[in-house]
Formats: sequence, C-alpha cells, structure tokens
Amino acid sequence: MKKTANLLVLPGDGIGKEVMLHGLHVLDKASKIFGFELSIEEDVIHGEAWKKFGTFCRDQTVITAKNADGVLVGAVGQISDETLPHSSNPEENDGLMRLRKELDVFVGLRPTVVSPHLLDELPYRAEISKGVDIIVLREMCGGVMFAEPRGIEVLSDVQKRGYDTTSYTTYEVERLAKVGFDLARRRKNHVVSVDKSNVMESGVLWREVVKQISEDFPDVELEHMYADNCSYQLAVNPGQFDVIISDNLFGDIISDQLGSLAGSLGMLPSASLPFFPKHGHPCSVGIFEPVHGSAPDIYGKNIANPVGMILSVALFIEYGLGGIEESNIIRKAVEKTFSKGIKTIDIGGNASSEKVTASILEEMSFEG
Ligand code: NAD
Ligand code: IPM
Ligand code: MN
Repeated sequence: MKKTANLLVLPGDGIGKEVMLHGLHVLDKASKIFGFELSIEEDVIHGEAWKKFGTFCRDQTVITAKNADGVLVGAVGQISDETLPHSSNPEENDGLMRLRKELDVFVGLRPTVVSPHLLDELPYRAEISKGVDIIVLREMCGGVMFAEPRGIEVLSDVQKRGYDTTSYTTYEVERLAKVGFDLARRRKNHVVSVDKSNVMESGVLWREVVKQISEDFPDVELEHMYADNCSYQLAVNPGQFDVIISDNLFGDIISDQLGSLAGSLGMLPSASLPFFPKHGHPCSVGIFEPVHGSAPDIYGKNIANPVGMILSVALFIEYGLGGIEESNIIRKAVEKTFSKGIKTIDIGGNASSEKVTASILEEMSFEG
C-alpha cells in the first residue's frame, strides 16, 4: 500500500459538507492505524464555488486535482431555493462533470453490498435483499450526458425544443468493457451488459463491441440485458447479478436503484478511475464520492447517513492507495456498528450522523 496520500478534498454543497467531515475523521484514523502520511488540500466546487468565484469548477481546482493522488468529493447540487445559472455545456454547468471529464475517470465503480444487520429494515423483503453483492461499472465520461449536439432551441413564440444526443464510439465501449471483464475475473466471472439495443443505435454498437471484447475473456460469462428489464430484475431477483456494465445514464439510474436494495441511497460509495489498476496497486487520480447528492431535504439536521462517504474513503484506500486489507477494516467497522443497532434514520435507526461515525472510529481502533 502507498505510504503517502495527497488528497484534494471537495466537500461541495448541502449534506456533502456534512458527510465529508465524517469521511475525513475516518481517513485521519486510517492514516494513523495503517501508517500512511496524509496531506490534504481543500477547495470549493459547484454551488459553493459559484458563490465564491462565479464558476462551478475553477481551472486551479483541476490543476490541483491532476497533481493529487485522489479527489474526495462530498456531494454537489442545488440547496434550498437558490437559483444557479444554466449552460447547455455540461462541463460549464456542473463542477463535478467538468472534473470527471478533465480527469477522464471513465471507470465508475459503484458497489452495493447489503448488510446482514439491516435485513429487517430494508424496503425489500429480507429474502430478496439477503446476500446482494453487486458492482455497477458505469461509463462516466461519455454518452448522453456529454455528447453533442445538445441544447434548447426556440421554434416559435410558444414552442421550444430541448434535445440531447446519445453517442458512444468503439473506443469508449471497448475500454469500459475490458475493465468489466477484468473486474469480473476478480469476482464471480459473470457480466451483465445493459443497453437498449432494441431501440437505440448507440445500444446496437454497445452490444456489438461488448460481445467482441468478451471473446478475449472466454472464462467470463456474458449476458446482455435491456436496461428496463435490468431495473425490473434488480427488484425481483437481484441475487442473479454480480458485475453490471452500463453506459453513463443507465448506470446513474441503476446505481440509485441499488440504494433501495441497500436500504438507503446514503449507503452507497463510488470510485471513478482513469484506469483499472492491477489488484492491490494504486491508481492516481481517481474521484471518490458517495452516490447520493446534496439532499436539501435533510441538510443541516445531523441525520445524513455518513456511510456512503465513509465507504468512499475505503474505496480510496483500496484503489487510490492499493490497500485492500486496510479498506476491509473500514468496511468491517461499519458492519460492527450496524450489528450494535447504531444506524441513522434512513436505515431504521435513530442515531445521529455523528454517533454512527464515532462508533465506526471506535471499531476501527479495535481492529488496529
Ligand atoms: P439526492 O441524492 O440528494 O437525494 C435523494 C433522496 O435520498 C432524498 O430523499 C435524500 O434525503 C436521500 N438521501 C441522499 N443522501 C442521503 C444520506 N446520506 N442519508 C440519508 N438520506 C439521503 O438526490 P436529489 O434530491 O435528486 O438531488 C439533490 C441535488 O443533488 C441536485 O442538485 C442533484 O443534481 C444533486 N446530485 C448530486 C450528486 C453528486 O454530487 N454525486 C448525486 C445526485 C444528485
Ligand atoms: C451521480 C450524480 C451526477 C451524475 C450528477 C450530480 C451530475 O447523479 O454522481 O450519480 O449524473 O452523474
Ligand atoms: Mn446519480
């Protein structure tokens, strides 16, 4: 495991600022227990950056990010009733989207592991959710969220037309698919590739390229599934999935849906990487952030679930620093905390965010 960690920390907006504090407590403790030197630079992004600098992501922030070992993000987004300006360029319109594109972190790892200690609190029956361990590999830098042309044109005094383009090149699909099969080899050798090739040309190419790449991975079983059916299957029989690979938009939607299997969106972490490192090797520069957003409805109440952020710190230690066993110590500390019934409201408990984090920190020290 790498013994120095230069991190850019971007708390962002709303509960992003809250959960980041919890993530940093865990990171600080991790650096002491696992013996790595931590150096942190903090900056603003999105709403907070707009308020301070009139831009969602400064050039300086991108430069600092490119020179860091990793970027830790809380969450970005609208808070309260403030109105932020709109541009049809996604990189001008959203600080996080610019950072993802600038760092070319196309490998979006979004794992969901259902805790055995939460089975009675989940939206789904225990027998549906039990044992769920799925990783969504979401393409992060292409597709409809970035492709041109896009915009809103005025057709007449009373009519406008809003339009986007979905587009994927062979190169973009190939590089993601290869990661998907490599990832599957570290897990159960099973990939479900999601598309809408029945109605979308980009989906036809997606399926064709994934199939082609699969020929280099004969030991990995490949299944193609339409995105709408995948969503349904995740609700009725999630146990059939291990690695799901998908484009940017479907991956965004499916990863939130997995939040419902885990009990709350606040449970889920993510890592967005520029390449998939060899097992146990560090990868600079990835972005590590919970899957959830700024959650204006719960901001300021000390009830935000800090676990998605804390597990994102674990992903930084795993993929950013190459510390696999070390990252598992954090995951175990989360499980022990749940086993004691210490959990936030969204997953059926009554503990504050602070209480949950305090317990996780304590459990980490027992391991150390
Ligand atoms: P959201 O993820 O902020 O919230 C959706 C629901 O999940 C809300 O009910 C919220 O209370 C709940 N929730 C989210 N995180 C939680 C946590 N840690 N603990 C407990 N409950 C939690 O999504 P939204 O309301 O659709 O979007 C709000 C803003 O966030 C928007 O501006 C959106 O663009 C932005 N957003 C940002 C990110 C990101 O930074 N990666 C992700 C999603 C949405
Ligand atoms: C996510 C978010 C982002 C996305 C938004 C905030 C741009 O929903 O990280 O899942 O759409 O990717
Ligand atoms: Mn999302």
